[in-house]
Amino acid sequence: MLKLNHVTKKFGELVAVNDLSFAVEAGQVFGIAGPNGAGKSTVYNLITGFYPFEGEIAFEGRNIAGRQPHEISKLGIARTFQIPQTFPSLTVEQSVGVGNRFGARGRFDPAYVESILAFMELTPVRHEPTGQLSLLDKKRLMMGAALATRPKILMLDEPMAGSNSNEIRSLMESIRRINAEMGITIIIIEHFMKVLTELTSTLLIIETGTKVCMGDPETVVNDPEVIECYLGESYG
Ligand SMILES: Nc1ncnc2c1ncn2[C@@H]1O[C@H](COP(=O)(O)OP(=O)(O)O)[C@@H](O)[C@H]1O
Ligand SMILES: [Mg+2]
Repeated sequence: MLKLNHVTKKFGELVAVNDLSFAVEAGQVFGIAGPNGAGKSTVYNLITGFYPFEGEIAFEGRNIAGRQPHEISKLGIARTFQIPQTFPSLTVEQSVGVGNRFGARGRFDPAYVESILAFMELTPVRHEPTGQLSLLDKKRLMMGAALATRPKILMLDEPMAGSNSNEIRSLMESIRRINAEMGITIIIIEHFMKVLTELTSTLLIIETGTKVCMGDPETVVNDPEVIECYLGESYG
């Protein structure tokens, strides 16, 4: 469904993504992990058209390199950001509506907005300005606004950051349902290994922009090189 082929991104001297290739299959939950500064968020920025790069990114067989973010959104790729970004003066319902207006189908559909509010458990706070939401509700809103674009792929950037274990459980359940019930392919960048081993079917580890290991999550977290470069000896 989504294929990166020898993708390289340099910021001046810094090689943020280094000759990276991987493929995400339709219906998968695909995980990405690696130390801070490894290039994980940059991979999302390249897929969503924020920067030019070397190499090829294909979505459903079409090369999407050089397309603008709004074009890529219309193709059916949505994302959330590492730091929750909302429109503080809009209500929750309006924010999800904005996602729906700019989405893949291009036609505002109030019934769909309603279903997303319910799905993400945002109905009770629908009239609240987003600036006043709890962190958990901000995260639910970011996912909801992304879902409102009717994506084929949803890319999540460290969705569990700053959450306690109950919130992590609840967000994991939402992600599982987005994948299973809505049929949306998921890519998730996450530091919590337990989240990745429970949710994903393929896990990619990158360090300084380079692939260290990729495969089924149980095998990857037991890979000696992964333990050395990322997880540390204490993990075992
Ligand atoms: N717009 C940018 N300009 C310059 N350097 C950047 C930019 N974005 C990211 N970087 C650098 O690229 C590297 C990878 O960053 P990032 O993708 O955010 O890492 P991660 O998400 O894995 O923590 C870091 O060294 C970061 O400082
Ligand atoms: Mg990041």
